[in-house]
Amino acid sequence: MSNALKEYLVSVQNNVEKALDSRLPRASILPVKLHQAMRYSALDGGKRMRPMLTYCTGKLLEIPDEILDGPACAVELIHVYSLIHDDLPAMDDDDLRRGKATCHIAFDEATAILTGDALQALAFEILANDPTINIDPNQRLKMITTLTKASGSVGMVGGQAIDLESVGTKLTLPELENMHIHKTGALIRASVNMAALAKPDLDPVIAKKLDHYAKCIGLSFQVKDDILDEESDTATLGKTQGKDQDNNKPTYPALLGLSGAKEKAHELHEQAIDCLSSFGSEANLLRDLSLYIIQRNH
Ligand code: IPE
Ligand code: IPE
Ligand code: MG
Ligand code: MG
Ligand code: MG
Repeated sequence: MSNALKEYLVSVQNNVEKALDSRLPRASILPVKLHQAMRYSALDGGKRMRPMLTYCTGKLLEIPDEILDGPACAVELIHVYSLIHDDLPAMDDDDLRRGKATCHIAFDEATAILTGDALQALAFEILANDPTINIDPNQRLKMITTLTKASGSVGMVGGQAIDLESVGTKLTLPELENMHIHKTGALIRASVNMAALAKPDLDPVIAKKLDHYAKCIGLSFQVKDDILDEESDTATLGKTQGKDQDNNKPTYPALLGLSGAKEKAHELHEQAIDCLSSFGSEANLLRDLSLYIIQRNH
């Protein structure tokens, strides 16, 4: 990872931790167990890649960070909720997440379901109400629409439904791509597009290029996640390695082999870089981030 990216990532991770901490209900507020579980799952862990994308896009477009704290928290909260539900016995049945027990193991299944539900509601409350999102109300409404669509049945949840339906089947490459674009790509795309919406006078040509960049890295992110599930280890990942094979999931390595999957990730990175060709060095963080996504080890 480039030094500039590393430095910025650490500052984003610290900022997101504080921003989430101040927006999550205190653990002492009733119902205590639910609020403890929300804080347990959302705080102190995760790479914070989606907020990072929001801030890096904002930096490129010269949007003040404070305006983006709300959308960055909102997309991370939706992501955390998706992970809690993804780990449930009815879905991937995982007991380790971000190096600690999954929510349903640390608490119980019913609490994990409710924790996901509550984090989702909090995400939209933040987008609708947070006073730091000091932008035109029409743009704010577009942000809300962007995240709702990316979260729902034509976005992440739809992708998860396809994932579960596909267990034990062999998808074609376009079908697999469609599943990944939805289950993981949709939130990544929303992370970039919400930052773009904070700039109401943004040239639509630029908005389209950023959206296309996000689409490429959204797919490469899940391709790499599939690769890591095969070739990394549990301690590095902070989640159990080898679960995709155990669960009979259709993945890029299963369809193309590890080297084919790596080639695909590289192609997507190059496409992402092409989308940024009209920008100068101000887009270097986004370029570095695309490379990091396919080179990361967890
Ligand atoms: C894991 O996402 C699940 C996917 C959508 C691929 P991340 O790799 O971003 O997980 P955290 O947030 O760092 O834990
Ligand atoms: C998860 O995909 C996608 C969402 C949570 C929406 P995975 O099931 O591959 O994610 P991990 O590997 O458990 O993090
Ligand atoms: Mg899954
Ligand atoms: Mg999973
Ligand atoms: Mg995975």
